Amino acid sequence: MRYRLTQYTHGGGCACKIPPGELETVVAGLLRPDPPAGAAELLVGLDDGDDAAVVRIDGGQALVLTADFFTPVVDDPYDWGRIAAANALSDVYAMGGRPLVAVNLLGWPRDVLPMELAREVLRGGLDVARDAGCHVAGGHSVDDPEPKYGMAVTGIADPDRLIRNDAAVAGLPLSLSKPLGVGVLNSRHKATGEVSTEAIESMVRLNRDAAQAALAAGIVAGTDVTGFGLLGHLLKLARASNVTAVVDASAVPYLVGAREALRDGYVSGGTRRNLDWVRPDADLSAVDEDEALLLADAQTSGGLLLAGEIPGAQLIGELVPRGQHILVIR
Ligand code: CO
Ligand code: CO
Repeated sequence: MRYRLTQYTHGGGCACKIPPGELETVVAGLLRPDPPAGAAELLVGLDDGDDAAVVRIDGGQALVLTADFFTPVVDDPYDWGRIAAANALSDVYAMGGRPLVAVNLLGWPRDVLPMELAREVLRGGLDVARDAGCHVAGGHSVDDPEPKYGMAVTGIADPDRLIRNDAAVAGLPLSLSKPLGVGVLNSRHKATGEVSTEAIESMVRLNRDAAQAALAAGIVAGTDVTGFGLLGHLLKLARASNVTAVVDASAVPYLVGAREALRDGYVSGGTRRNLDWVRPDADLSAVDEDEALLLADAQTSGGLLLAGEIPGAQLIGELVPRGQHILVIR
């Protein structure tokens, strides 16, 4: 029997994230507890919802910590494992860090799905972590009505060379290292079984090279594009940096088939929530609703969005002084 993993979950990938507005309400007031005396200096915390936590350690280095897990975005267990690992590792790269060690996080409906499939998921994660030069050392698993997989990753960074989401300045170009569209293509895959090879190749690709290029180019501001979509993550970056982000809609790259998938109605609830969340702060008058939905498409293991230019990434707009809107699409 062939199992279609996407049929064992209500939502898929980063599209099943808790919506950004809801999350901010929940954590409001939980910010900035007084640290105990002698605690290590927290360089990046919860304040602006950056990609990972960063703490200064002895020896002039910083530890980067993140965890990411989600339900199946594709039917194939090995591919899902690879995608989930690339996505979890991405938050370390998005801070300008290098992953050192990861632990697995696995939820598995052991009465419903064979454990051999879980093994394939873990094998996929292991292969991607090995490519990243990152150890995988154990983890935690629970019996869960829906399959879930991801990793908690610890990396290291130079505290003076972090890539933050609150350090962008007006005058810089915006670039994006992977095309958009995996959200609509994954929705179509869940509904029809049709596989997009391009989407899978994009999701399993590490953001390592883009991060190295960003550091080499002296870039200090950026993030990765995941569940909140390009518009959601860009809004967070522009808001935290007190600038306005201008996106050239015609310059944004998409995967083959993304427009058709959108036209055929394969839009996740997460994507609609992303667009609704940015709407009050955005001038979307230059594009129609379909184009706006594509720009808000919830990504899984998306590329780096950088305030600056690197080889191989597409220029998609620029940062300007804060105006009436935090986001402008032109
Ligand atoms: Co991130
Ligand atoms: Co994340």
